[in-house]
Amino acid sequence: MSKETNTSEEAYWTQRYQEALTGWDVGAATTPMTEYADQLKDKSLRILIPGAGNAYEAEYLHKRGFSNVHILDVSEIPLENFKQRNPSFPEAHIHHQNFFKHKGTYDLILEQTFFCSFEPDQMTRVKYATKMASLLAPTGKLVGVLFKESATKENEGRPYGATETEYRRYLKPYFNIQVLETAYNSIQPREGSELFGIFQKKEKPKVQKNNPLHGITLKTILEELVDKYGWEELGDRVRINSFVSNPSINSSLKFLRRTPWAREKVEQLYIHTFKK
Ligand SMILES: C[S@@+](CC[C@H](N)C(=O)[O-])C[C@H]1O[C@@H](n2cnc3c(N)ncnc32)[C@H](O)[C@@H]1O
Repeated sequence: MSKETNTSEEAYWTQRYQEALTGWDVGAATTPMTEYADQLKDKSLRILIPGAGNAYEAEYLHKRGFSNVHILDVSEIPLENFKQRNPSFPEAHIHHQNFFKHKGTYDLILEQTFFCSFEPDQMTRVKYATKMASLLAPTGKLVGVLFKESATKENEGRPYGATETEYRRYLKPYFNIQVLETAYNSIQPREGSELFGIFQKKEKPKVQKNNPLHGITLKTILEELVDKYGWEELGDRVRINSFVSNPSINSSLKFLRRTPWAREKVEQLYIHTFKK
């Protein structure tokens, strides 16, 4: 097993496993994942399962002869559990590592309650999309289930889902969205609450590595700032007339689009507000 982490994320998730606060863990690979796996013909596909936890999907694939499956998690506990259950799984394919530090090239990445484990801030979600794309070979696929909404306040607000529109917004710059619809084969407790998605990496993704606002429109930036602060506080933070007298999204957008210094201030506030 490759090992590399020692961070607050590792501490957080490890504690969850130690205290058995693992409501997401259903104890088996779920039907959307197994049915997708069952139609894969090429057993040599390079497959990554990040945030794999107990990695039941990897176990499912391994038992069916897939030879190039990799699992990755920031916490060692579920990886050790996995090893105990699957002694013949290649040690070198088990990565105890932070996803954002992982390097590799895969044909397929499987997503199962990983996106929703991150805090729902814009920067992290953009980072998730760019990292997924960067780990895929050209035309490789990200496939899996995604929670539609922030479901409950249990588990400190997790799972942090998103709307279909939000998923499209984050993933579209890097992926052709082949499927994104309510899963028809969810396990019973998740029926109706998750989307099944197949996202194929664009051959030439519009990845702008150093632009944290890439993929986020000015309209989104403004709407999210207004949600966060309200017009009054926004007007205090960025002193422009459009935020103060009869403010509206449309009039502010018009002003910001033709006033670069003001747009810059708004974008900086957005980065400052949502970047962790
Ligand atoms: C909600 S759990 C889902 C686990 C598994 N996919 C499942 O469905 O049972 C999220 C998993 O992601 C892992 N994780 C969270 N942040 C991570 C990161 N930055 N890098 C790698 N793993 C991470 C956690 O340790 C945890 O095992």
